[in-house]
Amino acid sequence: MRIAASALLFSLTGLVSAAADVPAWSFNLKNETSGIVALESIIVSPTLAIFFDRSSDDPLQINGHSAWGALWDLETSTVRALNVLSNSFCASGALISNGSMISVGGDAPGIQPAALMGNNAIRIFEPCATQDGAGCELFESPNSTAFTLAAPRWYPSTVRIFDGSLLIIGGAHVDVVFYNIDPENSYEFFPKKDGGVVRPSAFLERSLPANLFPRGFALPDGRVFIVANNQSIIYDVETDTETVLPDIPNGVRVTNPVDGSAILLPLSPPAYTPEVLVCGGSALDDRTQPANLSSQQPATSQCSRIELTDAGIKRGWIVEHMLGPRIMPELVHIPNGQILIANGGRTGFAALSAVKDPVFQSNADNPVFTPEIYTPSAALGTRFSNQSMPTSPVARMYHSSITLTPQGNFLVAGSNPNNHTVLPAPDVKFPSEFRVETLDPPFMQVPRPALQSVPSKLAFGRTFTVPVTVPSNLAAKTVQVSLMDLGFSSHAFHSSSRLVFLNARLSANRRSLTFTMPPNGRIYPPGPATLFLTIDNVTSPGVMIMAGSGRSPPTLE
Ligand SMILES: *[C@@H]1O[C@H](CO)[C@@H](O)[C@H](O)[C@H]1NC(C)=O
Ligand SMILES: *[C@@H]1O[C@H](CO)[C@@H](O)[C@H](O)[C@H]1NC(C)=O
Ligand SMILES: *[C@@H]1O[C@H](CO)[C@@H](O)[C@H](O)[C@H]1NC(C)=O
Ligand SMILES: *[C@@H]1O[C@H](CO)[C@@H](O)[C@H](O)[C@H]1NC(C)=O
Ligand SMILES: *[C@@H]1O[C@H](CO)[C@@H](O)[C@H](O)[C@H]1NC(C)=O
Ligand SMILES: *[C@@H]1O[C@H](CO)[C@@H](O)[C@H](O)[C@H]1NC(C)=O
Ligand SMILES: *[C@@H]1O[C@H](CO)[C@@H](O)[C@H](O)[C@H]1NC(C)=O
Ligand SMILES: *[C@@H]1O[C@H](CO)[C@@H](O)[C@H](O)[C@H]1NC(C)=O
Repeated sequence: MRIAASALLFSLTGLVSAAADVPAWSFNLKNETSGIVALESIIVSPTLAIFFDRSSDDPLQINGHSAWGALWDLETSTVRALNVLSNSFCASGALISNGSMISVGGDAPGIQPAALMGNNAIRIFEPCATQDGAGCELFESPNSTAFTLAAPRWYPSTVRIFDGSLLIIGGAHVDVVFYNIDPENSYEFFPKKDGGVVRPSAFLERSLPANLFPRGFALPDGRVFIVANNQSIIYDVETDTETVLPDIPNGVRVTNPVDGSAILLPLSPPAYTPEVLVCGGSALDDRTQPANLSSQQPATSQCSRIELTDAGIKRGWIVEHMLGPRIMPELVHIPNGQILIANGGRTGFAALSAVKDPVFQSNADNPVFTPEIYTPSAALGTRFSNQSMPTSPVARMYHSSITLTPQGNFLVAGSNPNNHTVLPAPDVKFPSEFRVETLDPPFMQVPRPALQSVPSKLAFGRTFTVPVTVPSNLAAKTVQVSLMDLGFSSHAFHSSSRLVFLNARLSANRRSLTFTMPPNGRIYPPGPATLFLTIDNVTSPGVMIMAGSGRSPPTLE
């Protein structure tokens, strides 16, 4: 008895001191600021992110005026202005099968005389081979039909689909103050399909008026799941048909101006069973005019999860709750299969200066400074945790962004719930935010595994063996290889973000890794991917590769 008790005490003490040694998550502010409000962000190379803002009065200059696009260097934490022709305010985007970044839609020219109309714009950033982005610029061709949208779109969203092209969903024609009262209820594609004619959507019509920035994901059968307002569908691109799914329960609405967020949970072989998680937003009657809404109205803590199989759809949405309410939460994949939930506020709504009691111009208040983590495989009721999560000094409210980087940490920037640049002042609780920080997972501070000489193109269905290094302190009990699209961050959503686990095994001498690519581009739409190796929950730096042939869309390989 006595011996057992002291052995237990000994092992508990061991656990406690081991826990104290485990490095924690941390926020780290960078010295250089973003120069423009990083309202949208996307990783475009192993070392570069693009930030977009609007044609406004940002401090970063180009050609004698304020810039609204910039390249952020992940290695040096420095910024360089990009020459954007059209106003990229509230655009969306993604990478396509040949590696080009495509940004679509936007706003009227705004305050810079140099800016062009952005609501029909297509902006292209070709794959950039220089580490610091030297020589890499955006391309726009505002007078060409092939490089402009068929319909004007502000607040659209995009999904890279099974043929490597971009499905472009919904939006409003021009600025709307709050609800979508000037909708473009249609789909179109880049490059164009159907001779460039848009496809009307009954779903978008039905989901008015809170259906801006619909949240969509390419499913492993090639169809597309979309949620807007409190409704969801599966859209079959090949037959142009919409299949209605159950509504989000309990009157909760999840798209702009009631931004919740959504994520396709990691897909695993052999079944790649798709499950979607939708979190945050607000339960309100969407007939309520904004002048009768309050910045102090609590958001919802509700998350709803559905398995997109016949049985799962019959079961419907299963409700669970975050640790607290969030409007404008960000849901981001962690390479180990967990989900990071960050940013946003506890009360109010998205958009600007519309509710009866805006906080300066913000419709939302009570920022959430501490992220939480969702573990999809844990039992219902035990999936959310903020244990050992750090607290940021910066409120990340409307018009902020966050993205996983190839380094394995998260780049957090932006926030500007104002209609132009507003500097800190006593009456301004949420000024325009130019501070950039990283959110660093614990594995950034310990010896990490590394992937060596991965081929630059990985064909679907093929098996590859690559050299790796594995720190000697790791027992290598679990080996995970994740093929990830890091997404395009805009308005609390990460367009095209995806994590597909690969069948993989480490050699007995731990010097090589053998893994098999998914069977086809429906599981992982052809295009750029970042490959991470996680051993015993310690994640390697990512390696950016091309999943598939790298051909221009449409391509099935
Ligand atoms: C960033 O700021 C810190 C603290 O002010 C300073 O110690 C460090 O040298 C700076 N780093 C760079 C790259 O300027
Ligand atoms: C587009 O056309 C307009 C006239 O319609 C012209 O003023 C402008 O220079 C053209 N822009 C480009 C980039 O060719
Ligand atoms: C979804 O919203 C519509 C329109 O406001 C409403 O009629 C419907 O009852 C809502 N569904 C649920 C499950 O609350
Ligand atoms: C706000 O609510 C009041 C009382 O229900 C109603 O009379 C008024 O029309 C509403 N105003 C708006 C702008 O919706
Ligand atoms: C962490 O979550 C708990 C609920 O589990 C909550 O009471 C607490 O306030 C949260 N901590 C922070 C810093 O948000
Ligand atoms: C937006 O900013 C302009 C100045 O740039 C100001 O005149 C206008 O009143 C603002 N609008 C709102 C809704 O706050
Ligand atoms: C695994 O690593 C993540 C960070 O990537 C951390 O949040 C989590 O707590 C770790 N899980 C375990 C069981 O150690
Ligand atoms: C990718 O495809 C698009 C659409 O055809 C094209 O505009 C772009 O230049 C292509 N990029 C590369 C690198 O081939």
